[in-house]
Amino acid sequence: MAIQRVASKWAKTKILLQNKGIAAYIPTTRRYSIEALRELLAAHTVVYIKPDRGTYGIGVMSVEIVPPEKSSENSDLQDSQSIAESASPSYRLRYEQKKETFSSIEALHKTLKSLINKREYLAQQGIDLLRFEGRPFDLRVLTQKTPTGQWATTGIIGRVAAKNKIVTNHHSGGIVKHFKTLMSEHMNAEEIENIRQELKILGVNVAAQLQKSYPRLKEIGLDVAIDSRWNIWILEVNTRPALFPFKKFFKDPSIYNTVRKYAQAYGRKLPDAKKAR
Ligand SMILES: Nc1ncnc2c1ncn2[C@@H]1O[C@H](COP(=O)(O)OP(=O)(O)O)[C@@H](O)[C@H]1O
Ligand SMILES: [Mg+2]
Repeated sequence: MAIQRVASKWAKTKILLQNKGIAAYIPTTRRYSIEALRELLAAHTVVYIKPDRGTYGIGVMSVEIVPPEKSSENSDLQDSQSIAESASPSYRLRYEQKKETFSSIEALHKTLKSLINKREYLAQQGIDLLRFEGRPFDLRVLTQKTPTGQWATTGIIGRVAAKNKIVTNHHSGGIVKHFKTLMSEHMNAEEIENIRQELKILGVNVAAQLQKSYPRLKEIGLDVAIDSRWNIWILEVNTRPALFPFKKFFKDPSIYNTVRKYAQAYGRKLPDAKKAR
């Protein structure tokens, strides 16, 4: 029987929220509406707006609250607080390589609505991603069904955003790096291994939870963010994860050998050995 694929991020998010242990890893997520936008911007300085059925980072936008500027003319004023209170913030929208600033949520919503253009979109709490050489990165955690019917996390890779991009996807110019290389800027070897273990368990738990609703699920790829306080967040779960980064990237062929062995056992079609370079 065919491997189960689920496109809707919202459908998958709702199932994950039913599990308390997993829900703690999910950023606040709503279906897009002006009310949802208002609510999220009241609680978070950055909000991501993304297609419910998107891939490759296409159509992903972000909104950041820009605090009212403290004008330099007033820098000698003692009572700077009253200035901050009287002025209101603005909202900086980013998508593709573009930036636009709005003075109200209503004006922002009007533009968002025309960009969204009747498609289903989600609004999600923005995560302040850890950085590598100044650029944000996130992680891809691959979890697969083994031939004996267990779930196993078989690979973790890091993805660094291209310059001035708000997404890390390969198709949007993101580059792949080793998990350890990215994390070493921030923590020691033992701390890195602790996070690796937590990610492996998280992949297995997420797969098991989704399988309750999607029994023919065989593989998932979690997009995971680590924030500056080292909290772990699930940005999305892919049910058609790319396997090629695990082949091309690791010098150690045993990683891809396992990935491929499991994938072939559950019937995923892989490019034939001659064509694959
Ligand atoms: N809530 C968020 N906070 C920070 N970055 C995000 C958030 N949601 C998405 N991103 C960035 O955008 C990328 C693409 O978003 P994702 O939800 O994975 O959609 P897609 O299906 O297009 O890959 C992520 O890999 C991440 O770099
Ligand atoms: Mg993704």
